[in-house]
Amino acid sequence: MRFYMTTPIFYVNGDPHIGHAYTAIAADVLARFKRLDGYDVHFLSGTDEHGQKVEKAARDAGMAPQDFCDAISAKFRDMEVRLDVSTDDFIRTTEPRHVHGVQALWRRLRERDQIYLGHYEGWYAVRDEDFYSADDVTLLADGSRVAPTGAPVEWVREPNFLFRLSRWQDALLQHYEENPDFVGPPAKRNEMLSFIRGGLTDLSVSRTSFKWGIPVPDEPGHVIYVWVDALANYITALGYPDLCSSLWPRWPADLHLVGKDILRFHAVYWPAFLMAAGLPVPKRIFGHGWWTVEGEKMSKSVGNVIDPLSLVDRFGVDAVRFFLFREVPFGNDGDYSERALISRMNTELANDLGNLCQRSVSLIARNCAGVLPDRGPLTQDDEEMLGLADGLIGSLRERMDRQALHEALEEVWKAIRAANAYIDRQAPWALKKTDRARMAAVLRVLADVIRSVATMLSPFMPQSMARMLDQVGVPHGLRSIAGLQTPLPEGTLLPAPQGVFPRFVEEAA
Ligand code: MSP
Repeated sequence: MRFYMTTPIFYVNGDPHIGHAYTAIAADVLARFKRLDGYDVHFLSGTDEHGQKVEKAARDAGMAPQDFCDAISAKFRDMEVRLDVSTDDFIRTTEPRHVHGVQALWRRLRERDQIYLGHYEGWYAVRDEDFYSADDVTLLADGSRVAPTGAPVEWVREPNFLFRLSRWQDALLQHYEENPDFVGPPAKRNEMLSFIRGGLTDLSVSRTSFKWGIPVPDEPGHVIYVWVDALANYITALGYPDLCSSLWPRWPADLHLVGKDILRFHAVYWPAFLMAAGLPVPKRIFGHGWWTVEGEKMSKSVGNVIDPLSLVDRFGVDAVRFFLFREVPFGNDGDYSERALISRMNTELANDLGNLCQRSVSLIARNCAGVLPDRGPLTQDDEEMLGLADGLIGSLRERMDRQALHEALEEVWKAIRAANAYIDRQAPWALKKTDRARMAAVLRVLADVIRSVATMLSPFMPQSMARMLDQVGVPHGLRSIAGLQTPLPEGTLLPAPQGVFPRFVEEAA
């Protein structure tokens, strides 16, 4: 079973921030979950290095564009390493493999009469690398004009190649109709549908007013529009145009994960380009929401840009990974606040999950000589508890396939809360004096529940859950969904108990 999934490729016009980290970690959680479930996953990320925006950022930094791209691309790669984002490949759009693939795609579109020479006159926002109609643009009091996204626009008049997007309106609508899961979440799918129904006009796909891009084959002076260049990364990284490359059979992608701001490029333009080139379209595209910070939009001028690496230094990578998907339904917008992060760490990680594990393994260490006890005859309470833990497999699979990461976490937390109630009800510390066999059986149930919980949470918090699985004696070969079917042998020696989630104590101001 193969699974190919992608993050968006990041613009290298500035340093990585928490919004980029969010996309990357979300994709990583989903990729890790599929691996845990036995899929042969190919997980791609990368950087988007051409276009006017990057050219300008390099100029402002007083650097040659390529040197600038090299420096910032390395920061994104480093961010992913530090956030435990487990990509299999990282593509840069300035690499020869990509440039070659994009030019091949262009030629193919040209040969199929999908691109023609015309000219574009209208508004362009460099920040969004997007064209806007006069109706979209607002005149501000200072005489400047902005797009609905707030990005400043400029008037552009230049000879351009245009892509016959208008031809693909019906085919796109039909594809949406036949594939109700093509775009998620459902509200975003409806937005895309009404955009398509509103009418598609041909799209400008080359630029002549600057140089930092992939040259249009055989047309000096034209560079390929950065979105055609960028979207093609998903196939050039698989070896396109070499359809005999070992990776090509992975196309079409199973999932493109993107932010809501770039959903239209992925859910309308990209499938149209692919249909026009006679290539299969991706199976699913999911658009997640945006983060604000303490109620405000993140921006350099406000000075509230959150650096994911400083959060990781302070709170630990897993707490950050957990918080981002626990705090806000995936697909909705959310607000970052340090208070909320600390509160989740202390109540849910330290109290609910950390204590459950600590209490259980300490009791085993003290009362069972540190050896995993065997299950006894199961009581109804035991069976219900174990049933809840076993049920996580099915309920998480279904939720992760809908990218409902928050629902997946809530399902696991229901089991954790139930396990805390179970331990209080069964009171193994009291059974110690009255019925040692029953005490051992209860502790074994708890160890098995912790094993299920830690396995299912490992895509979210890989490092801490590896430590938790060590604590309950799960060998590396059984750390998977299939592995959960193999019971741990009685007599498994457990390591000395160690807290996995210490409480976060704020330094006094
Ligand atoms: N280069 C394009 C994508 C090309 S994909 C073929 C791009 N890059 S980006 O660096 O601007 O954005 C990368 C991702 O970060 C996008 O999914 C975007 O939605 C996400 N985020 C950027 N800021 C964000 C927030 N404040 N909150 C959540 N995600 C945000 O777009």
